[in-house]
Amino acid sequence: MSDSQETEVQFIENMEEATEYQLKHTPACKVEGHPDSLIVRVKIGLNGLSHPQTEEHLIEWIAIFDGDQELDKVFFKPGQTPEFDFEIAYPYYQTIVQAYCNLHGIFGTYI
Ligand SMILES: [Fe+2]
Repeated sequence: MSDSQETEVQFIENMEEATEYQLKHTPACKVEGHPDSLIVRVKIGLNGLSHPQTEEHLIEWIAIFDGDQELDKVFFKPGQTPEFDFEIAYPYYQTIVQAYCNLHGIFGTYI
């Protein structure tokens, strides 16, 4: 895998054609609206799939962005379930959750 592939965010373009590889890396996001902020509940993996969390292969971080601006980021160790509830304040423009796998790069979900 080249450096450019590692840093390029991978998105599922079409859920009907999504592969298991894509599904188990992609952030699943539940969004709850509030008057002054938004709660974004994030887990990794869609359709009931989950990602390994071992020394050799794991989700190292999950971050939430507004456009290119990183708003918050959490790190995970082997054995820790990669999930987190983010809270972001208004205003925001284009919110994206990204997850980084040490072997497969960054996967994103627009919310
Ligand atoms: Fe992976």
